[in-house]
Amino acid sequence: MTTRRLVLTRSAAIVGAASTGLLLPQIARAQSGKVRVGLMLPYTGTYAQLGVAIENGVRMAIDEKGGKLGGREIEWFKVDDESEPSKGVENANKLVQRDKVDVLIGTVHSGVQMGIQKVARESGVLSLIPNAGVHAATRALCAPNVFRTSFTNSQPTLALGKPMVDRGHKKAVWITWKYAAGDDALEGFKESYTKAGGTIIKELGLPFPNVEFQALLTEIASLKPDAVACFFAGAGAAKFIRDYAAAGLKGRIPLYGSGFLTEGVLEAAGPAAEGIITTLHYSDSLDTPRNKQFRLAYAKTFRLQPDVYAVQGYDTGQLLVQGATVVKGNLNNKQALYKALESAVIDSPRGKWTMSKSHNPIQDMYLRVVEKGENKVIGIAAKALADSGAGCKMA
Ligand code: PHB
Repeated sequence: MTTRRLVLTRSAAIVGAASTGLLLPQIARAQSGKVRVGLMLPYTGTYAQLGVAIENGVRMAIDEKGGKLGGREIEWFKVDDESEPSKGVENANKLVQRDKVDVLIGTVHSGVQMGIQKVARESGVLSLIPNAGVHAATRALCAPNVFRTSFTNSQPTLALGKPMVDRGHKKAVWITWKYAAGDDALEGFKESYTKAGGTIIKELGLPFPNVEFQALLTEIASLKPDAVACFFAGAGAAKFIRDYAAAGLKGRIPLYGSGFLTEGVLEAAGPAAEGIITTLHYSDSLDTPRNKQFRLAYAKTFRLQPDVYAVQGYDTGQLLVQGATVVKGNLNNKQALYKALESAVIDSPRGKWTMSKSHNPIQDMYLRVVEKGENKVIGIAAKALADSGAGCKMA
């Protein structure tokens, strides 16, 4: 009798806990519920188009594999981060604490990424970075649950210095938005340009996302460098390209950049963009069946031409599908999941790539020139380039 009562009481307690939600969510979600996928991206401001391209890419990759993750349906959650670093932690927590996402995909802006990184490290949520190249995320602040599918900000510019010097440009001015992305990009440029024998005669900057370039362009004209190198992206990049030409610098002082300068902006920039040489891990004109098939499918689905951001979103979706498939949809099986993500080979429109030990792509950098409104490949500027991952110690 005593025993029986005890058993009854215990099972009643378990049912009680389950029905009040104390036990059930963990158990049910691990096996059969929907996978909760959070997108934290800019949908307003100078990087708005980048956010849209990334989301399109993520959805396309998942839809191509049947629209599920390891057999489970998906519930989507979205937050517009406005590329606003001061709201980074708060916005990441909307997805992690409030919406209880299983995976957080985001973001574009390096400053905002630092907020996500903090939340990811504290909560242990799976964090996939589809753009922001801030060094710290896969260097000193790297983490087992954080994977980047894009680049570090110095990867493109590590490939930029030599082609500039090879073209006879030994004195350059550097110009950028002054925030983590521009500072990191300068680190790579400084290393590659000085190693090749070039000298940076002046570093210019303005706060993100300002587009009042006039005074700085006047300064460039008076400095008379052999060339200008820069980091800008999104709508601000299109304006920089147009203003550079309008200031009379185009044709007189060649303009180079981290390839984001000419991604997704060629229509808006118009003829002012022709002839700009950049380095990046993707190019529209990559002549491979994989890239052609991707471009055709993307254009058909979204009535838009894809760019590097769409590719990065697509690869994020591919990586997630691969990982979820290995663990059969149980994203709580973290050891197996991380192992799968670490060893993934991504068959990307940019070319095949793998993860470095610090969870950042090892990838080729292409030399490109804008020709007839398209980024045309003119060479490989760096083969299988990895970020240093300096200071990364996985816990
Ligand atoms: C960044 O903030 O890390 C960033 C933003 C836009 C880009 C590239 C990097 O195109």
